[in-house]
Amino acid sequence: MNPALSHIGNQMSRLTGVRAIMKDIIETLRSGAGREFINLSAGNPLILPEVEQLWRDCTTELLASSEYGEVVCRYGASQGYQPLIDAVVKDFNQRYGLQLTDRNVLVTPGSQSLYFCAVNVFGGYCSNGTLKKVVLPLSPDYTGYGGVSLTPEALLAYKPLLDIDESAHRFKYRPDFSRLEIDETTGCVLFSRPCNPTGNVLTDDEVKKIVDMAEAYDVPVLVDSAYAPPFPSLNFTDMTPIFGSNVLHCTSLSKAGLPGERVGIAIGDERLIHALECFITNMCLHSPRYGQAIAARAIASGKLADISTNVIRPFYQQKFQVLETTLDRTMPDVPWFLHRGEGSIFGWLWLNDLPMTDWTFYEQLKQAGVIVVPGSTFFPGLCDEWSHVQQCFRISLTGTDQEIETAMTRLADVTKQVYQK
Ligand SMILES: Cc1ncc(COP(=O)(O)O)c(C=O)c1O
Repeated sequence: MNPALSHIGNQMSRLTGVRAIMKDIIETLRSGAGREFINLSAGNPLILPEVEQLWRDCTTELLASSEYGEVVCRYGASQGYQPLIDAVVKDFNQRYGLQLTDRNVLVTPGSQSLYFCAVNVFGGYCSNGTLKKVVLPLSPDYTGYGGVSLTPEALLAYKPLLDIDESAHRFKYRPDFSRLEIDETTGCVLFSRPCNPTGNVLTDDEVKKIVDMAEAYDVPVLVDSAYAPPFPSLNFTDMTPIFGSNVLHCTSLSKAGLPGERVGIAIGDERLIHALECFITNMCLHSPRYGQAIAARAIASGKLADISTNVIRPFYQQKFQVLETTLDRTMPDVPWFLHRGEGSIFGWLWLNDLPMTDWTFYEQLKQAGVIVVPGSTFFPGLCDEWSHVQQCFRISLTGTDQEIETAMTRLADVTKQVYQK
């Protein structure tokens, strides 16, 4: 059977970004019979015992309650399971002094689907034929944005400025406000904070500036808060979630131990929420309710926020320290720069003047038994020619301390060899 695919069918049946290279990684792991690889490519969070226990406890409570049948044996509202919506409203109002009502919250089946809906609701071709752009103000950013638009030409990412500390071998990306354009041709703005892959956290002022620029044109700003406080709180630097009439604060429970249940949450203006809610109804009626019901308990009890700050954050912050101390100790005298570790579950390494592409380096590192992700997969929507795109690597913090240390020592050896040639 060789069905003829539609234009959109062709586009959506191809994998983009990291998903595309995962195939190579899986084949490498399979074919390496007898060979041990240290795989630091994963975006899958580790299972932390305290976090798993929280979800077990919430499940036990749910199973014992009369609510169980209502949760799994019946259809529900597209907007989400009411106790979860109520728990989110109460938590965010108390924590951030907001005046949210239940009309300001939408639950989606994972936050990836939320971006899919939003990018196509606010971006793409309008009925008058004009193209509304989906602006990514700071590239690199989450690879998953690369596949969400049904109109790929709508995606427009901006090259950042680089704040470099030469002697410390550290750097940080900053939005280039001298180039960033948000105007009547913009459909929405989207960025992750903390950022996957770089661990960058846009400052409060940078976010406010972007939000103000967008507000002038009634443009929604989607702040992908998959790693942000209050859960999973994977920020290692202070940051305040920013809210506003044109801000859609988008969160996810995936990095708080529940990726399998697919719970994404959007918080924002009622009109933005309503448009997305209709899209969800058309797409899948509503998000699955079991994950929502246990999430409602974990949020309402305050336990999810507690575990996030007391268990999840310190766990990954310590992993980042292992990564950076090992690199500081072992890297040769070449222009290498680690992005400031401000959050997320990744390190981002830039090898300036790398005498080969990121893909070739990735292959050589595989020969040394280490797998990281070539950085060029993280620049969706960037049109500028920029050698930097092929000089970076995402290193997942999901290994043991020993694995991270060994992998970074081997990476330092490979770096030395390739710069010497
Ligand atoms: C920045 C960012 N946004 C969104 C997602 C998608 O998360 P989910 O669909 O599991 O909520 C991820 C997953 O890795 C991510 O890293």
